[in-house]
Amino acid sequence: MTAPTQDLEGRRILVLGASSGIGRSIGLRASAAGARVTFSARRLPELERAVAEAPGPALAVACDATQAEDCARAVDAAVDAFGGLDDLVYATGMSPLAMLEEASAEEWHRVLDVNVVGASLMTAAALAALRESEGSAFYISSYSVRQPLPGLALYRVSKVALDGLIECWRMEHPDVDFTRVVVGNTQGTGFADDWDPDRLNRTLKIWVERNLFPAATMMPLATVAESLVRILAAPGYVDDVAIMPRTRDAAARPR
Ligand SMILES: NC(=O)c1ccc[n+]([C@@H]2O[C@H](COP(=O)([O-])OP(=O)(O)OC[C@H]3O[C@@H](n4cnc5c(N)ncnc54)[C@H](OP(=O)(O)O)[C@@H]3O)[C@@H](O)[C@H]2O)c1
Repeated sequence: MTAPTQDLEGRRILVLGASSGIGRSIGLRASAAGARVTFSARRLPELERAVAEAPGPALAVACDATQAEDCARAVDAAVDAFGGLDDLVYATGMSPLAMLEEASAEEWHRVLDVNVVGASLMTAAALAALRESEGSAFYISSYSVRQPLPGLALYRVSKVALDGLIECWRMEHPDVDFTRVVVGNTQGTGFADDWDPDRLNRTLKIWVERNLFPAATMMPLATVAESLVRILAAPGYVDDVAIMPRTRDAAARPR
């Protein structure tokens, strides 16, 4: 890992979705930049591994973001450990792979629960601490809002809803900064780990036939994490921002 260029010395950051992928990487990067980081998600052993790797003070707290009591417990643990909370990062997310005609009600409920309801429950739990610190909340949205893909409709709809949720939090609480971070395709995460192989084969065929296959536009995890740390360290309020592949090749840019 190269040294981060940004200074987050002493910042108290709670990262949800920190057991893998983008959330884990942000937590480690923020820790390397001097932040005191609470790593949170459901898988405690993964969180403990991240804490062991973090160069600075860090804490692991198990939390299912869809459960209000868990969210409250995670915030309390972070505040108790570090004396307050400056930033909440909602990097929790999941994405069922399903064409709309085959998507089950359970898949719909799950994706909306994790990607939208959890984001709101977590924000509500952290609100008092963020107001006290004049802090900020960051949410990982997706480029799929702008570029829908067949098979990822449930995910896309959940991220459109997340974007709406962020606007509503801004409206109800102008005293807290709510930042939407749109992220493009990122490699090295657990995003596709649970995809059914049969559905994947059928979906890949459609993507290739329609020239939608996103592989050419994948960003390294480290690029996304470093960009996010810079956004966290920005001296001003960043309301909406997008992290996309750096390319001069228009053909490789997501449409
Ligand atoms: N990868 C991409 O190309 C990409 C692009 C744009 C945006 N994003 C977004 O980036 C975020 C992170 O995704 P990723 O790609 O890094 O995938 P990932 O590696 O699968 O990370 C997802 C994280 O969410 C956590 N999580 C899932 N359900 C949870 C729940 N109920 N409560 C608490 N935590 C939960 C997982 O931990 P546990 O299983 O331990 O709970 C894991 O830490 C997501 O919001 C995703 O939509 C990803």
